[in-house]
Amino acid sequence: MGAMRWPSESELNVIRTKVAEMSGRDSKEVRVVVSPYRICPLGAHIDHQGGIVSAMTINKGILLGFVPSDDSQVLIQSAQFKGEVRFCADEEQLPKTGAKLNDSSNCSSHEECGWGNYARGALYALQKRGNNIKQGIIGYICGAEGLDSSGLSSSAAVGVAYLLAFESANKLIVSPTENIEYDRLIENEYLGLKNGILDQSAILLSSYGCLTCMNCKTKEHKLIHSPESNGQNNETKKQFKILLAFSGLKQALISNPGYNSRVAECREAAKILLQASGNEGLEPLLSNVDPEAYEEHKVRLDLNLARRAEHYFSENRRVVKGLEAWASGNIEEFGKLISASGLSSIQNYESGCEPLIQLYEILVKAPGVYGARFSGAGFRGCCIAFVDGDRALDAASFIRKEYTKLQPELARQIDDDEERMVLICDAADCACLI
Ligand code: GLA
Repeated sequence: MGAMRWPSESELNVIRTKVAEMSGRDSKEVRVVVSPYRICPLGAHIDHQGGIVSAMTINKGILLGFVPSDDSQVLIQSAQFKGEVRFCADEEQLPKTGAKLNDSSNCSSHEECGWGNYARGALYALQKRGNNIKQGIIGYICGAEGLDSSGLSSSAAVGVAYLLAFESANKLIVSPTENIEYDRLIENEYLGLKNGILDQSAILLSSYGCLTCMNCKTKEHKLIHSPESNGQNNETKKQFKILLAFSGLKQALISNPGYNSRVAECREAAKILLQASGNEGLEPLLSNVDPEAYEEHKVRLDLNLARRAEHYFSENRRVVKGLEAWASGNIEEFGKLISASGLSSIQNYESGCEPLIQLYEILVKAPGVYGARFSGAGFRGCCIAFVDGDRALDAASFIRKEYTKLQPELARQIDDDEERMVLICDAADCACLI
């Protein structure tokens, strides 16, 4: 199976035509931000504690077509959500912290589900860091059908897309590192989600064929090539594909209290361990706890906190081993670590739910699958798997059949067209402007 190019020329043309209609400009003037979704094979739920994570992007994501509006007007429509977003780029934006973004009682009548908050959040971040934004945009945003709130970091892909569009319209030159920080401001301050920097780092730094490795404490990153991607090894090259298997349960992360409460538990565990090891002056993050101090003092943690800490320390070790496996082209070992990480998310981080755990168990047994785990926050959404490219179709039909047996209702809800339950994707590049 060959890699599918995303976005296709026809997808781009639909967006250019729509923005041309909205703005009365020529479609040749329309710029398009391509902002891919990400997966995190190893390093789940340790970014907010300053851990080391691995990530890559996939060939699906957000497209944002826009033209600068020539004044401060912002006008945006969406292919997925109703209504339109209108405001002025020079209005001061204030945090939405505490607001439930997907609660419809919270939305203005013309803007379904508050979807425009990501555009406002991008302006908040740019303003907060002293950028003078005067120029608005007229834009049309489009996500991959059915993939929002699935654990593929659609929210960071949207946030990054708006940042890149406002920066382009205002002729700002901003580095990926600065944009990682701006997207952090959107999520942590504007929306009030206490997440780490995994999602936006993956979206802004990834490069096709590489595994992106981010140290979330030092903010240093590396791109790790696999011998399979350097073109020298074509004969023995193992083509892998990325499977996305959907549970049928969706929830935007910001409206799930589970995420922030797990972050609070990790911090509590860190506080106890730091106190026990005489380091109470340090910020209560598990990355500030020496692994030896953890081993010595972990008996002081109650059961829940002990499980969260165990996930953190064991996941860091899996990431380090996984980076080595990737660099040496050992995808079988890489896959085993992914499945072990998935198990730790179930047993130690306790972030799944019954259908998602069933899906994980089906994926690890599917033909040709090297390894699988929940995607993203993993409370709802989808599971990902790395699979042998030649067996991806067999794996997909096995997963559809087995999941439909266990969860017929949810399987039906995903789509009448059962093809949508499992998608076969390829790795991709970082976000860019066309
Ligand atoms: C979500 C968060 C990330 C990260 C993952 C879990 O995607 O936004 O910061 O914590 O969950 O690894």
